[in-house]
Amino acid sequence: MEYGNGNGIRNGLGSIIGNGLGNIIGNDHGINNGHVNGNGNVNGSGKGNGAKVEKMKPMDSEVLRKQGHIMVDFIADYYKNLEDSPQNLPVLSQVQPGYLRDILPNSAPERPEPLKELLDDVSKKIIPGLTHWQSPSYFAYYASSTSVAGFLGEMLSTGLSVVGFTWLTSPAATELEVIVLDWLAKLLQLPDHFLSTGNGGGVIQGTACEAVLVVVLAARDRIMKKVGKTSLSQLVVYASDQTHSSFRKACLIGGIHEENIRLLKTDSSTNYGMPPKSLEEAISSDLAKGFIPFFICATVGTTSSAAVDPLVPLGKIAKSNGIWMHVDAAYAGNACICPEFRKHIDGVENADSFNINAHKWLFANQTCSPLWVKDRYSLIDALKTNPEYLEYKVSKRDEVVNYKDWQISLSRRFRSLKLWMVLRLYGAENLRNFIRDHVNLAKHFEDYVVQDSHFEVVTTRYFSLVCFRLSPADGDEDKCNEQNRELLAAVNTTGKIFISHTVLSGKFVLRFAVGAPLTEEKHVTEAWRVIQKHASKFFHNKKY
Ligand SMILES: Cc1ncc(COP(=O)(O)O)c(C=O)c1O
Repeated sequence: MEYGNGNGIRNGLGSIIGNGLGNIIGNDHGINNGHVNGNGNVNGSGKGNGAKVEKMKPMDSEVLRKQGHIMVDFIADYYKNLEDSPQNLPVLSQVQPGYLRDILPNSAPERPEPLKELLDDVSKKIIPGLTHWQSPSYFAYYASSTSVAGFLGEMLSTGLSVVGFTWLTSPAATELEVIVLDWLAKLLQLPDHFLSTGNGGGVIQGTACEAVLVVVLAARDRIMKKVGKTSLSQLVVYASDQTHSSFRKACLIGGIHEENIRLLKTDSSTNYGMPPKSLEEAISSDLAKGFIPFFICATVGTTSSAAVDPLVPLGKIAKSNGIWMHVDAAYAGNACICPEFRKHIDGVENADSFNINAHKWLFANQTCSPLWVKDRYSLIDALKTNPEYLEYKVSKRDEVVNYKDWQISLSRRFRSLKLWMVLRLYGAENLRNFIRDHVNLAKHFEDYVVQDSHFEVVTTRYFSLVCFRLSPADGDEDKCNEQNRELLAAVNTTGKIFISHTVLSGKFVLRFAVGAPLTEEKHVTEAWRVIQKHASKFFHNKKY
C-alpha cells in the first residue's frame, strides 16, 4: 500500500488510523480499561458529568505509577508498530499544513479529560502528523538516535526534575556531568587538556547550535581583551562553505559583522573538506587589510555530505595565528569512540573546543550535546553572572563547577544521567559495535548503488552517510538534477522510506543516512528496492 499525497487530511489520515494505529493503545495494556481513578483521569472526575471539579493534585505518586505504566506501554507499542506495522506509519508524515487546527478544539478544556481520551487523540490526530524519526526505514538528514537506556535516563531526569544551575542546587547533577564527560572524553581519546582535571572540561549543551554560540562568545571576549572592545568590526571568522548554518547564526548573535564571516569554498577535489591553503591565504589577506582573525570553525562530518575538514593542518594554522579553533563533530564525532574512526579527529589536540551530539549517534535521546573546552575560564569569563539571589558561599569556591556559567540559560536539565545510563547499561564495546553496524549498513547500500549503472556515488563515504544520485544519462546536468528531485519526491511520497537531499557543486544529490536504532539490513535492501522501482521510469530499457 502506498500513501496518498495531497488527498486531503481526512482521507489521508483515515487509512492510517483505520489500519492499526489503534494497536498502539491496544487493549492488552489497559488504556481502554480506564482503571486509573476509575475513569482514566489524571485528576479526579471526568468532564461533562456535572460534578464539581476535584481539587487538583498535580503530583500524586499512585496516579504517576498507574499512568506512567500506561504511558510506557503506549510508547513501547509505538516502537513495536514501527517495526511490525510500517504500512500504517508513513515514515515521512503525509499530512497537509494546518491539518491539526481542523481537528482540535479552538480552546483548552475547563475540566479534566481522561488520559484514555487524550491517548486516543494522540493515536488518531498526532501520530499521523509525525515524521517517524525512529522508524527503521528513516534515512534522512542525520538520525536522532534513541535507546531504552536513553529513554530511561530521560524518564529519571524528568522524574527527579532537579535544576542544577549551580553546584549547590544539586551537587550530584553537576558532579555526574563532570565525571561522565571525562569518561566520554577518554573514550574519544581527547587530549588531557579537555578533561576536568586540567584547565578545561566538558559541559552538556542542549544542541550543537548552542555549543558553537557559547564558544564564539568565549573566543570573541578572549580576543577583545587583547585588542580592545572597539575592534569588534575588525574581527573575522573562518569556516568552509559546508559548515552548518548555526555557525553564521552564532557569529551574528555574537556581533560579528556578516561581511567578516569567511566561508571558504570547497569542492570535490577535497571531498568537500576545507582546503588549508585557502585558509592560510584568507588569513594573510585579512591581516594585510587590518582585520583580526580570531575564530575557525572546522567540521568533522558536515551536515551535507559528512565531509571532514583536515584538523591537523587547520589546527597548526590556528595555533600559529593565535586563533580559537572549534571542531563541530555533531554527527561523526560519535563514531570516533571506535579506534578505526578516531583518525578523523587527529589534530583535535590543537583545537580549543570540540562538540558532539550524543543524541545524533550515541543513543542518548534528544537532546544531549557534549562540548569540551581547553580553557574553561574563557567560557566562564564570557558567560558568568553573579546575581545576589544565587550567591552562596560554596558556589563561589573555585573547586565547584557552576554550569550556569558555561551556557546561555540558567535552568538546566539533568542530562548527564541519561549519558551515564547509556554508557553503563550498554558499555562502550556495544556502542562501538552498534556504530560499526550502521557504517556497514551504509556500505551495503553503497554497494547497491555502485552495482547499478544508472546511479553513481557522489562523494567518498567515511561514516554512515551515502551521497548518491541517478547519473546524468547524456551529460545533461540540469535534466539529471530534475530527475533526482523527482525521484526524491516519489520515494518519500510512498511513506515507505524517508531520504533527504543536498546540493554539491550544483549537483542535486540524494542522501541516505543510516542511524535509526531499529534499522537492519532488510530495511536497507527494501529501501534500495523502493528507490530502484521509482527510478525505473527514467530508463526506457530496464524495469525493476
Ligand atoms: C555538523 C552539524 N553541526 C551542527 C548541527 C546542528 O545540530 P543541533 O540541532 O544539535 O543544533 C548539525 C545538525 O545536523 C550538524 O550536522
